[in-house]
Amino acid sequence: MSKCVISLDLPEDIVVPLRDQYELLMWSGRDAMPEATLQNWLSDAEGLLCALSSPITESVMHAAKQLRVISTISVGVDHIDLNAATRAGISVGHTPGVLVDSTADLALGLMIALTRRIPEADRWMRSGQWSQGWQSDLLLGTDLSDSTVGVVGLGPIGEATVRRLRAFGCRILAWNRSLKEIEGVEIVPLDEVFARSDIVTLHTALTAETTHIASRSRLASMPTGAALINTGRGLLVDERALLEELAAGRLKAGLDVFEVEPLPSDHPFLSLNNVVLLPHVGSATASTRLAMVTRALENLHAGMSGERLPFCANPQVYGLSA
Ligand code: DGY
Repeated sequence: MSKCVISLDLPEDIVVPLRDQYELLMWSGRDAMPEATLQNWLSDAEGLLCALSSPITESVMHAAKQLRVISTISVGVDHIDLNAATRAGISVGHTPGVLVDSTADLALGLMIALTRRIPEADRWMRSGQWSQGWQSDLLLGTDLSDSTVGVVGLGPIGEATVRRLRAFGCRILAWNRSLKEIEGVEIVPLDEVFARSDIVTLHTALTAETTHIASRSRLASMPTGAALINTGRGLLVDERALLEELAAGRLKAGLDVFEVEPLPSDHPFLSLNNVVLLPHVGSATASTRLAMVTRALENLHAGMSGERLPFCANPQVYGLSA
């Protein structure tokens, strides 16, 4: 039987059928699997099923001489050294398509949470402060329908976000790496998205080019009172610069992703009222997670059988262009 490593704790009903097909080693802790253990387990494995919690570095792959397929339960592949995988002839599978709606829903959720101050109002009520009934000036927010929203990246999740924003009646600006036209969307240069929007929402993959795409100067160009929404990756944002803008009370933010995850318990974001924080749950609905696992298993099985992966993040491994 070929050997397969699972570097995260998955429910038994998913794992049981795999046990008939592969010799399995599964990490059972909730903490991320240590790199040394992963290297050790992969030394004679042909397949790896993983997620964002396991960085798959060149040195991990170097130790895995028989590895043929890495299948990640995520659409993002920034935790995997794709170039090193391609050089080593390892195909990398991911899960595009299935988490588009869940993630776009959450981006909208964060926008409404911020503009209508939902978490702040919830905290206020729970602290027993609602003693005077309806008041005309209580917890006033702003209307999403009245806002200009800038969408950075028009891949499937960016487009799904645009569809939702259109239904809300927002003015929509957008920037995309390659030119794209979408009805009801004004395509503008990246700097303009930041300078002209009441809300900027990030939907690009994390690459060397998009790291800190929400840079200090772009954040500084955002209008006072504007909000940044990030459901992509923490490193898309210059977090230090964002923190300064938030601490000064100039910007607001809704963040599902962070430079360091889990967010350290003493992180200054946690003490600010103008930031809504979520623990990387953009795709966290039961049906989306099931669809992601199903897609990841399709990739794993294909790779273990020496076939092309149906959802391959490094088609160069088959001599195809990206
Ligand atoms: C992904 O799939 O890349 C998300 O960030 C996790 O669901």
